[in-house]
Amino acid sequence: MSRSHSTGAQPHESAHRAITGGLVVATHNPGKFRELLELLRPYGVEAVSAGELGLAEPEETGASFRSNARLKAIAATPSGMPALADDSGLGIDALGGEPGIHSARWAGKEKDFAGAMQMVENKLRAIGATKPAQRRAHFACALCVAWPDGHVEEFEGRVDGTLVWPSRGDKGFGYDPIFLPDGYARTFGEMSSTEKHGLPPEGTGLSHRARAFLKLAEACLEKR
Ligand code: IMP
Repeated sequence: MSRSHSTGAQPHESAHRAITGGLVVATHNPGKFRELLELLRPYGVEAVSAGELGLAEPEETGASFRSNARLKAIAATPSGMPALADDSGLGIDALGGEPGIHSARWAGKEKDFAGAMQMVENKLRAIGATKPAQRRAHFACALCVAWPDGHVEEFEGRVDGTLVWPSRGDKGFGYDPIFLPDGYARTFGEMSSTEKHGLPPEGTGLSHRARAFLKLAEACLEKR
């Protein structure tokens, strides 16, 4: 889903705004910052992270990826530049969509994703979810670009798959090593970032982040 929303005096609710000049990437997560930089590279956008600018990390109090992405992007606009934020996570069908917006939290303060993946496995095993059909999951991503004058643009992407055990691969970040996207034989943890994004011209977007980003690029960016 892609939607443009304006809180400022824009001529049309549906008018997209181009990102020109610099951009703040409103994240303190290095894995995510790296992926967003890779996605932005073909567009020649100069990006700096909220961490590098010393901007505070807001509390993620929203009830959805979309509201948390918006909250983070708006919190980074005092820099004077448009700010891009990502909120994303893993939803597991058999666990009622958990960890969802709590995906980072399951890894604790120490960001222990080996522990978080083990916790996922323990919960699935506890309910007897051993067959692939019982282990359906998806990654979802909401992207928000917020401008200092209040204009925002929002885009969402999702990729469906199955959770494997034991985990496979040491690439990517977070829950990548247990996520096997539909139609592929390798987990995100076994894929290079190029494969995980699956961008054109080779692909049509594979990861949730790449799928949301392609919508953003279509609406707000020009290829250099
Ligand atoms: P956020 O920083 O609140 O958006 O937390 C997102 C969390 O979801 C990350 O810390 C990861 O645990 C998980 N996550 C989001 N995207 C990915 C991905 O592409 N691969 C693996 N884990 C992800």
